[in-house]
Amino acid sequence: MDKKFKRTLVTCALPYANGPVHIGHLAGVYVPADIYVRYLRMKGEDVLYVCGSDEHGVPITIKAREQGCTPQDIVDRYHKVIRDSFAGLGINFDIYGRTSSEVHAGNASAFFRKLYDDGKFITKESEQYYDPEAKTFLADRYIVGTCPKCGAEGAYGDQCEKCGSTLSPEELLNPKSKLSGAEPVKKKTSHWYLPLDRYEGWLSDWILGSHKEWRSNVYGQCKSWIDGGLQPRAVSRDLEWGVPVPVEGAEGKVLYVWFDAPIGYISNTQELLPQSWEQWWKNDETRLVHFIGKDNIVFHCIVFPSMLKAYGDGYILPDNVPANEFLNLEGDKISTSRNWAVWAHEYLQDFPGKEDVMRYVLTANAPETKDNDFSWKDFQARNNSELVAIFGNFVNRAVVLTHKYFGGKVPAAGELLDMDKAALDEIPQLRASMERNIEGFHFREALKDAMSIARVGNKYISDTEPWKVAKTDLGRCGTILNVSLQICADLAIAFEPFTPFAAERLRKMLGVCLCAGVDHRKGEQETVNTFKPGEGAAIHTVSLPSGFDFAALKASCPGADCNVCLDWDMLGKDCILPEGHVIGEAELLFAKIEDEAIDAQIARLENIRREREAALAAKAAEEAAARIEPQKAEVSFEDFDRMDIRTATVLEAERVPKTDKLLKLTIDTGLDRRVIVSGIAEYYSPEDMIGKQIVILANLAPRKIRGIESKGMILMARQGDGKMRFITPQEALVNGAQIG
Ligand code: 2FM
Ligand code: ZN
Repeated sequence: MDKKFKRTLVTCALPYANGPVHIGHLAGVYVPADIYVRYLRMKGEDVLYVCGSDEHGVPITIKAREQGCTPQDIVDRYHKVIRDSFAGLGINFDIYGRTSSEVHAGNASAFFRKLYDDGKFITKESEQYYDPEAKTFLADRYIVGTCPKCGAEGAYGDQCEKCGSTLSPEELLNPKSKLSGAEPVKKKTSHWYLPLDRYEGWLSDWILGSHKEWRSNVYGQCKSWIDGGLQPRAVSRDLEWGVPVPVEGAEGKVLYVWFDAPIGYISNTQELLPQSWEQWWKNDETRLVHFIGKDNIVFHCIVFPSMLKAYGDGYILPDNVPANEFLNLEGDKISTSRNWAVWAHEYLQDFPGKEDVMRYVLTANAPETKDNDFSWKDFQARNNSELVAIFGNFVNRAVVLTHKYFGGKVPAAGELLDMDKAALDEIPQLRASMERNIEGFHFREALKDAMSIARVGNKYISDTEPWKVAKTDLGRCGTILNVSLQICADLAIAFEPFTPFAAERLRKMLGVCLCAGVDHRKGEQETVNTFKPGEGAAIHTVSLPSGFDFAALKASCPGADCNVCLDWDMLGKDCILPEGHVIGEAELLFAKIEDEAIDAQIARLENIRREREAALAAKAAEEAAARIEPQKAEVSFEDFDRMDIRTATVLEAERVPKTDKLLKLTIDTGLDRRVIVSGIAEYYSPEDMIGKQIVILANLAPRKIRGIESKGMILMARQGDGKMRFITPQEALVNGAQIG
């Protein structure tokens, strides 16, 4: 860490509590943040790790309305689901708060009020859509209509989900309120705006001038916003759900969700550390890092910093904002509304004990520089041929052989041969690369480095074959296993950020513990406020007070009786495990994932895709059927009167050989008995037609169809989708009755 910083405050985007989190969220934000935090903690750095649910905003109110419950019910439900999913995946925030908390309401409100009192806002009157029946202003999502770009029905006031176009409610054709179905009307309303244009110069100096090291996607987006000229942004909305605007005359108005949510980071810190939160937010020695997805860049790099700048009072700004791109699923965009996702809570149920596998795969495929794809086959392959076959296999061999030949005690290392040294020499280099990569937010590459350590170990033990050497030279076998066990200990350190559950299993196998980091920090924090009683404990791993004495902590490590406490600094030192150190029993580090488990997941997705395609096809057919052809050119009465239209009855019917569409019908027209060839076989079988009374154009000039002379034409009604039905009189008439 940069010398000027003493501590790191890591925030993760607060997920909206209107649905569970999926692998896109995990890969984009939470897994990388967790790797980063675990790494810093292993290094003994002082870190605070803050997240929570984002519980305001229009989608939550829409969901509540759809489900006939209150927005509070919705956020209560999903807050728990999301919180438990994170915990299940080992994403252990110091606090997972919520923006519907009282602390937050007070905080966000006071924040607004200070900016208001300091004259940092401007007010603007604008015309917004209003539902005259429901008597409420309508957020863009509450207005639906026809997409002006693709003609799809049901496009929202901000976006068409069919063609993906970004829209404004004004562009929608035939707009309707989602609440009442009424046609919305324009009505004047007044809102507070943060004039971002006033901060343009400052933002340009701060980001474009002094944060050239930010990821190119982040820097590029900021540059394009700033170069495009910043506009005032509304910070209030006409809505009932949210933090009320704390100003007289603002009834029915709440803070815009993107105004209150980032303040949630501060509120959550305050909830956890009521006495010392300012040290994390108002101290230049704190390094603030926001982990987010790419759709959040403008809010974290432009809007929130401008809010903090406007507020003053020593708030720090982010030192880095490592935003990821998006993760796709089996080649398709992840979509909550289409249920095209792998949901974290379902994954945890379907794959118990495999939390690390998902963390591993999402990191190996992390969408760091471009959108990336998750596939179940890749998931299986990475588990079976990397985690199991390389990492797990190596550890298993080393531990099992140590028990077999040395009674579970680390054997003495004799003189090291070149091949031993070569293997051990690779570790410090890989460690240095991991450090560069993690500190530069290149987690994919860092994982490759960690995996390379396992590859080194696996190759070393395969090449040296201690099980064979044991038969002739037990001393040499001991040296090989000593080296192998040192590499196992390296792996227990290197994989702690990526696969913490496996790292813990490995530590147990090796009879070591983790000195720095989460394990030993429990109980070290200052008073912690719990969430609402009755909701169960929040994840309160701990934050030590700043400036804690790492050496003293290590000395007082409760695991000291195991005599080896790992920390990051030990990685690559070739004598982590002393001779004679007793290791634990061999345990499976990773288990193979069989085809059945993967096939079930693929089948689930295929089902969703099939149902979706069927629904789309049904909708398209319905739309096509409803399509009405325009009226044909005018005809005179005389023209019409020349047509001889009559009733007739089908006497015989048969398919015209070698055709799919044609029926040969022998009919009684009242005038005669004749043959008509008609293209209706797609819709009627010969049996359907026999005995039916129909209407024909009798005086159509005869023509030969497939060698059969056809005299006249059966009148059919044809829908927009091509479906045809013959016309029949409402009650039976004589054949030959004239129509017109
Ligand atoms: O995009 C989202 O999911 C937002 N709920 C993120 C909010 S981040 C922060 F500002 F709270
Ligand atoms: Zn469209």
